[in-house]
Amino acid sequence: MTSTHPKSADLILQLDALAKSAASGEALMKSIVALLHEELTRYNWVGFYMLEREGGDTLVLGPFKGTMTPHTRIPLNQGICGAAASSGKTVVVDDVNSDSRYLACSLETKSEIVVPVFVRGKVVGELDIDSHFLAAFGPDDRKLCEHAATTLGKFLESR
Ligand code: SME
Repeated sequence: MTSTHPKSADLILQLDALAKSAASGEALMKSIVALLHEELTRYNWVGFYMLEREGGDTLVLGPFKGTMTPHTRIPLNQGICGAAASSGKTVVVDDVNSDSRYLACSLETKSEIVVPVFVRGKVVGELDIDSHFLAAFGPDDRKLCEHAATTLGKFLESR
């Protein structure tokens, strides 16, 4: 499924507005997660993982919406999350059960997108989204999620 969603352009504007009014990086992460989780019904788990420290090798769970995940700390050499953060590239997995890197969060998850967050050219964390639907993340979703990650990166850079 690669359907476009008419909400995308509107959500991009809303993300920009959130960044203008956010009091902190943590607050902005919380509001981005809430917006995407509430507005897009196929986004069943939405959260940020941030590197424990600059140059560190472990991702730590930050603000999220969805069921609790057992993966609160993910080494950079594990999972789809580790792959995205270590390569600095967005990873889209249409069927998580056919990807050997996948670390299961919920039995219902079928597809996933992970988008790195950059500050001054370095990965500092990532936005992770799971869906209960196969191939839920098409080109419009990728654009929207990359915009959300860039919005956070620029905000952190300005602090
Ligand atoms: N599925 C991820 C782990 C995080 S949970 O989905 C929230 C991975 O494979 O890295």
